Amino acid sequence: MDLSDQVVIVTGAGQGIGKAAALALADAGADVVVVDINERTLEETAAAVKAKGRRTLAIRADLGSVAEIDRMIAESVAAFGRIDTLVNNAGVTRRAYIMDLTEEDWDRIHRVNAKGVFFCLQRVAREMIPRRSGRIINIASVAGKGFPGTSNAIYAASKGAVISLTKTAAQQLGPHNINVNSVCPGIVRTALYEQIVKVMSETEGLSIEVVEARAVASVPLRRPNEPEDIADMIVFLASARARNVSGQSFNVDGGLIPD
Ligand SMILES: NC(=O)c1ccc[n+]([C@@H]2O[C@H](COP(=O)([O-])OP(=O)(O)OC[C@H]3O[C@@H](n4cnc5c(N)ncnc54)[C@H](O)[C@@H]3O)[C@@H](O)[C@H]2O)c1
Repeated sequence: MDLSDQVVIVTGAGQGIGKAAALALADAGADVVVVDINERTLEETAAAVKAKGRRTLAIRADLGSVAEIDRMIAESVAAFGRIDTLVNNAGVTRRAYIMDLTEEDWDRIHRVNAKGVFFCLQRVAREMIPRRSGRIINIASVAGKGFPGTSNAIYAASKGAVISLTKTAAQQLGPHNINVNSVCPGIVRTALYEQIVKVMSETEGLSIEVVEARAVASVPLRRPNEPEDIADMIVFLASARARNVSGQSFNVDGGLIPD
């Protein structure tokens, strides 16, 4: 997969899946704009991309704010002249039973996972449409396809929104030669997942090891994802090899959800 001289924005690039994606895209030859709300981790990812010999720009932004998204796009275009691919990855959640969820949970989770993803997609498409070229890769989740082990129902709804948005955006942006797809990770070893496991361990009175082993036992391939497993699918979808793939939501989950 050769992404030489492609310009890619990765949101939520400070750690986890976003960081792995930024590094894999740089390995494939892309210049990478890394965006996160956490300035410290953001700078670490930017330094790692730079160490691979690629150009990079670190932008601290809160992607729940449309004004911040507009600034992020403007700074990216000012630095690199165009955006070839957006990896719409930033997301938040917390482990909770449906009856314990609050209005604050709905607003916090949907602000980033649904609103932020939509406006990043719309604002980057504004830049791509006049050039008649672009790739948008949304990071959804198997939670949006009914995974019973989801962190919570509000999170599942936000990821269902991303899968649905991917279909409609692919239909409406396709005539502008913009491909839109989603990746639906299963269990991925990141800080977000560790936090979920910690809460499950506390609420169920089980050790972290037992909770993790139970989760892995539910995966047909009997292994969780590393962030790099998701990054490999992202690199493929950004590449010329995926030129006729659009409107799809691909699971990378070890066979967890047969959909
Ligand atoms: N880890 C999993 O098991 C898993 C499974 C399915 C889907 N996902 C999805 O993958 C994506 C990445 O998850 P991860 O596990 O790497 O999570 P993570 O918590 O390790 O990383 C998420 C990153 O997003 C950033 N971020 C959060 N809110 C932001 C905001 N308002 N503005 C800018 N940046 C913000 C965080 O600072 C962090 O660096 C998320 O959309 C998540 O829902 C993760």
